[in-house]
Amino acid sequence: MLKRYLLTPGPTPVPPEVLLAAAEPVIHHRAPRFTEILTEVVAGLKYVYQTTNDVLIFASSGTGAMESAVVNLVAPGDAVLVASCGNFGERWVKLNKTWGAAITLLDFDWGTRVDPAQIAAALQANSKIKAVFVQFSETSTGVVNDIRAIGEIVGATDAVLVVDAISGLGATDLPTDEWGVDVCVAGSQKALMIPPGLAYVAVSPKAWKLVESNPTPRFYFDWVAARKKMTGDSAQTPYTPAVSLMVAQNKAIEMIREEGLANVFARHRVLGRACKEGVKALGLELFGPDDPEANSVTAVKVPAGIDGGKIGKIARDEYGVWLAGGQGKLKGQIFRFGHCGYFGAFDIIVGLSCVEMVLAELGHPVKWGASVGAAEQVLMKSEVKL
Ligand SMILES: Cc1ncc(COP(=O)(O)O)c(C=O)c1O
Repeated sequence: MLKRYLLTPGPTPVPPEVLLAAAEPVIHHRAPRFTEILTEVVAGLKYVYQTTNDVLIFASSGTGAMESAVVNLVAPGDAVLVASCGNFGERWVKLNKTWGAAITLLDFDWGTRVDPAQIAAALQANSKIKAVFVQFSETSTGVVNDIRAIGEIVGATDAVLVVDAISGLGATDLPTDEWGVDVCVAGSQKALMIPPGLAYVAVSPKAWKLVESNPTPRFYFDWVAARKKMTGDSAQTPYTPAVSLMVAQNKAIEMIREEGLANVFARHRVLGRACKEGVKALGLELFGPDDPEANSVTAVKVPAGIDGGKIGKIARDEYGVWLAGGQGKLKGQIFRFGHCGYFGAFDIIVGLSCVEMVLAELGHPVKWGASVGAAEQVLMKSEVKL
């Protein structure tokens, strides 16, 4: 037997209670009970988003919701700004290219944060920019961008701020309204603790103005049609929803509410710190800044002389542990631990312990238990339940 541990930044482990909820008999989506569930899920998502804006739900992966943001906000030839610092920033570029936007690209080194001052300068240089696209947690590098600062800058202009918070929402504090995030994209399979398949967007009144005047044709991802159907006393989805995922999301949000958002963030902060201290105690180097708020992912440089591709493969095939590798140009150069969503103290211990054994197997000198011991010291000091 090989017991499996899913320690990636998406998909993430799903709580047993949530899996049971997803296994309930499927109900019909045009029935009053479904309206109740949808209404509860939307209210719960607003709690997690810390928003009073409209929240729309789509049956798609996170990229679908990202694409929905581009088609609803941008017409061919429109000026947009993309501030990218990783693989998912590049996705904003690809989506905007696909839909014919005129892109100003601020391309930051992978492993660094987006510089808000450069966004301010780019917006000042081109007042026609309609939308600014950025990541909150750039999952490919573990970096978390300063959305509060970016929100202040973009909020002072006519442009809307579009944030991909797919791996950050529900892990690190992101008060959507307070920080002026006009469109906030999230996905179900990260800190929202359900399987892949649902994606969410929170849309501000400022963004709605742009959406309502945008001539780009759209159908499945039309936000206006979605809002019309998803709001009110008899809320439904325009098309057949992923009913079981919706039931699962309702349960997962109930758990998030029980823990309390502040405790959820505090737990992620402790787990992120424990993981990072463990990595450093093993003599490994973090990739990117050692940021106390980068709580979804810990990215680690592959030590010199080690074949990076083998770390994840051995962890998976011999130890049953799924870790994430490097993406795009970081393939083979880094590996990543996920700790967003249904993660607790011993997930960190399992991940670090596995890495010690894998590295030893690959011939890297390992001081047994060094990473685990360092993590334990952080975990033991935690004042929040892990
Ligand atoms: C920050 C970020 N953006 C976008 C995506 C893409 O989401 P999906 O794979 O659900 O389409 C991911 C998934 O890992 C992500 O972490």
